[in-house]
Amino acid sequence: MYNRKITILYLISNLLIISCVKKDTTFYTDIEPIIHAKCAVCHNPKGAGPFDLITYEDSKKRTKMIAEVITNNYMPPWPADREYRSFLGEKSLTKEEKSEILNWIKNGAKEGEKKNATTLNLKVTNKTKPQPDLIVKMPNPHITNGLNKDEFLMMKFPFELEQDTFIKKIEFVADNKQIVHHVNAHLITYNDSQKKNIYNGDRIVNTEDFSDQESFKKLDLLNDDDSYPVLTPSVSNYLPGSEAVDYPNNIGVLRAKKKNIILVNDFHYAPSPYEEKDDSYFNIYFSEEPASRVIQETQLGTFGISKITPPLIIPPNEIKTFTTKAMITQDISLLTINPHMHLIGKSFLAYAITLKNETIPLIKIDDWNFRWQYFYTFKQMLKIPAGSEIIVKATYDNTENNPDNPFSPPKVIKERQNLNGKGSMRTSDEMLQFIINYLPYEEGDENIQLGL
Ligand code: HEC
Repeated sequence: MYNRKITILYLISNLLIISCVKKDTTFYTDIEPIIHAKCAVCHNPKGAGPFDLITYEDSKKRTKMIAEVITNNYMPPWPADREYRSFLGEKSLTKEEKSEILNWIKNGAKEGEKKNATTLNLKVTNKTKPQPDLIVKMPNPHITNGLNKDEFLMMKFPFELEQDTFIKKIEFVADNKQIVHHVNAHLITYNDSQKKNIYNGDRIVNTEDFSDQESFKKLDLLNDDDSYPVLTPSVSNYLPGSEAVDYPNNIGVLRAKKKNIILVNDFHYAPSPYEEKDDSYFNIYFSEEPASRVIQETQLGTFGISKITPPLIIPPNEIKTFTTKAMITQDISLLTINPHMHLIGKSFLAYAITLKNETIPLIKIDDWNFRWQYFYTFKQMLKIPAGSEIIVKATYDNTENNPDNPFSPPKVIKERQNLNGKGSMRTSDEMLQFIINYLPYEEGDENIQLGL
C-alpha cells in the first residue's frame, strides 16, 4: 500500500516535470516577471540603464545582447557569487532564471498571450513609503563636468534640529539616475559649543584635486578649535538599483544633535559627454526608540586594523594575490560588508575560520568590477564567534590583458599610502579594504532578519 502510494506520487511528479519541460517558454508567462524583477529596476526611463527593458518589444529587440550579458554575468550587475553567500536585495539571476531566459531566446523569443495588462510594478516607486521627517538638499543642483569623465566629489549636506534627535534611517534619493553612480555617506555631529556655523565653507570639493585633509578644511568640517567632531561612518550607501536597508527594531538608530552634517565621500558621477544636472537629496526618518544597539564599523587592510601580506605592490605584467587577516576578540553579529579595491582588482574572497576550524563563507567575487562596489547586507545577522579569524584574499591583474589597467604599458602600482597625498581617488594607487559593520553579539541575533 505504502509503496504504491510512492509509485503513484512518483508518476505524478514525473508527469508534472514532463509537462513543465514541454510547455513553450513565452515572454508573458515566463520572462516578463524575471525582466521586471531583475532588469527593469534600472532599465526604465528614469533608471541607470542606458535603455528600457520593460515590454516584450524592449526585450525582443535586444535578445542577442541580453543572451551575451547574462551568460558572462555582466548583467545584472551583482559581482558577488550568490552560491557562496546570498545577500539582501541581490540582483543576480538564479541558475533557473538564467536558463529560462536563454531557452526563451534560443527558441525564437516567443511573445505568447498577453492575458491581462500587466503594468510594471517597480518596487522602488510603488511601495507605500512613510513620509520622511526631514529632507536635506543641495543648495543648488550640481552640474557635472560634461567631459565624459568620472567625477569623484566630496559633498556636505548640513542640517539643524531643534534638539538632540534619534534617527532611524538616512536614505539617499538619486535624482539624475543616469549619472549618479555611487554614494557613501557619513554623519558628523557637532557639540553646539564647539561649532558656530555648519553652513560655512564650500559644499563640494573635487577629491582628485585635493587630499582628504585639504578637502576637510575646504568644506569647513572641523570644530572651530580645529579638533575633530564625531563621525559615524557609512550611514547611507547608494548604487543604482540599491535601496536603503531598514534594520529592524532598535538596530542602527543614530544619535543626531542640533548641528549635523551628512558628509558624502565619495560622490561618484558616471561619465557623460553633456553637462548634466543633478538634484539628489537625503530623506531622514526619525526614531521613537533610542539608539540602543549602535552599529560599529571596522576595516581590514589599507588604513585598517590588519596589515597586508606581502605589502600591496603589484609589479607590471603580473597577477598577484595578497592576504589580510584579523582576529575577532568578542562574539559579533555581522550586518553589512564592503569589499574595496580600485581598477586592477581581479577577484576577492573573504571568510572566517572559527576556533573549531569551521569556515564561515562571507563573500566571493570572481570577476571584480570597480564600478559595482556594493555594501552587501546579510539576510540574517551572521554570528562570528570570538577567536575566529577573518581572512581576506585579493588578487590584482596588472597585465596588458586587463582592460581596466590605467597604464599602457603596465607600470608598478602600489597601495595608497596616506590620506594626505593629493587626490583620494588616484587611479595610480590601489587599495585592499574589507569594511565590516557589526554589533556585539546578543543571544538570538542569528535569527533576526535584516531588511523588511
Ligand atoms: C543595478 C542596475 C541594473 C540592473 C539591475 C540591470 N542593468 Fe543592465 N545595465 C545597467 C547599466 C548602468 C548599464 C550601462 C553599462 C554599465 O554601466 O555597465 C547596463 C547595460 C546593459 C546592457 C548593454 C551592455 C553593453 O555592452 O552595452 C544590456 C544588454 C543590459 N544592461 C541588460 C540587462 C539585463 C538583461 C538585465 C536583467 C537580467 C539588466 N541589464 C539588469 C544597469 C543595470
